[in-house]
Amino acid sequence: MLNNCKLTILGLGTMGRALADGLLEAGAIQPSSLRATVRHDESAERLSADSTYPVSTDNIEAAREADVILLCVKPRSACKVVRELAEGGALEQGPLLLSICAGVTTAQLEEAAGCSLRVARAMPNTPCLVQKGMTVVSPGAHASPDDVKTALSIMEPLGRALSLDEEHMDAVTGLSASGPAFVYVIIDALAEGGVMVGLPRKTATELAAQMVLGASTMVLETGKHPAELKDQVTTPAGCTISALMALEDGKLRSVLARGVQEAARAAAALG
Ligand SMILES: NC(=O)c1ccc[n+]([C@@H]2O[C@H](COP(=O)([O-])OP(=O)(O)OC[C@H]3O[C@@H](n4cnc5c(N)ncnc54)[C@H](OP(=O)(O)O)[C@@H]3O)[C@@H](O)[C@H]2O)c1
Repeated sequence: MLNNCKLTILGLGTMGRALADGLLEAGAIQPSSLRATVRHDESAERLSADSTYPVSTDNIEAAREADVILLCVKPRSACKVVRELAEGGALEQGPLLLSICAGVTTAQLEEAAGCSLRVARAMPNTPCLVQKGMTVVSPGAHASPDDVKTALSIMEPLGRALSLDEEHMDAVTGLSASGPAFVYVIIDALAEGGVMVGLPRKTATELAAQMVLGASTMVLETGKHPAELKDQVTTPAGCTISALMALEDGKLRSVLARGVQEAARAAAALG
């Protein structure tokens, strides 16, 4: 429970909403401690009707009394929003600013605030929507170890969360934040393979998705290296080793690794 913490989410879009819903469902926060904003009046009206907490378009009013401001707008708007908060006196109570904006550094946000604001970054992913997220948190120059704990306690109800130095944030973005998109493509491709060898499409998709869930759980729960787990499936002269050779011919491993590298490079350019 985020003890009496007043939380304001600026940008109640896909991720902002996932974070709000996850925290409420986990009982980590009460609706009375939560406020949120969006950009457009129509979005505010639609979300207000559907939420147990207030949703407005007034960032300054919503943030003025917040203990934690969760910044979930698009990266290109992040510094502008923080500058407006500072100019409107909405940072005077000394909140923790927790930003999930890809590629925007804590130094950029501190500079936009124009004061020694406690800033931390968090990089979540969309599986936070089903409480299976992976989030990495990094402190800025003025954030304390307690601020990191607060940031982790906001993210933990949505899946796993850990802290790393900020220098790793673009790599984290390329791997665990962009990664769900890579895995959806992989699941779809595997299901297509199932269809090619005669399975109904819906069944093939279910088999592929549950198989990926099971394999991921094996890695996380056994702590074994993926290569060791792969060896358990690969009997000599069997069908799996034949398939693995075909995947190596297609350079599957380097294609996936290069995908992460490319996403990290693009993330670094966002800020
Ligand atoms: N999607 C992901 O997988 C993912 C993963 C990790 C991190 N992130 C980060 O999460 C952030 C949000 O991404 P998203 O996918 O949730 O975007 P999104 O669905 O487009 O949501 C953006 C939200 O911000 C609101 N907004 C825009 N300008 C605003 C302003 N000046 N003040 C208050 N609210 C404002 C929008 O309101 P309207 O609806 O009224 O326009 C919308 O609700 C990004 O910075 C991204 O880098 C995303």
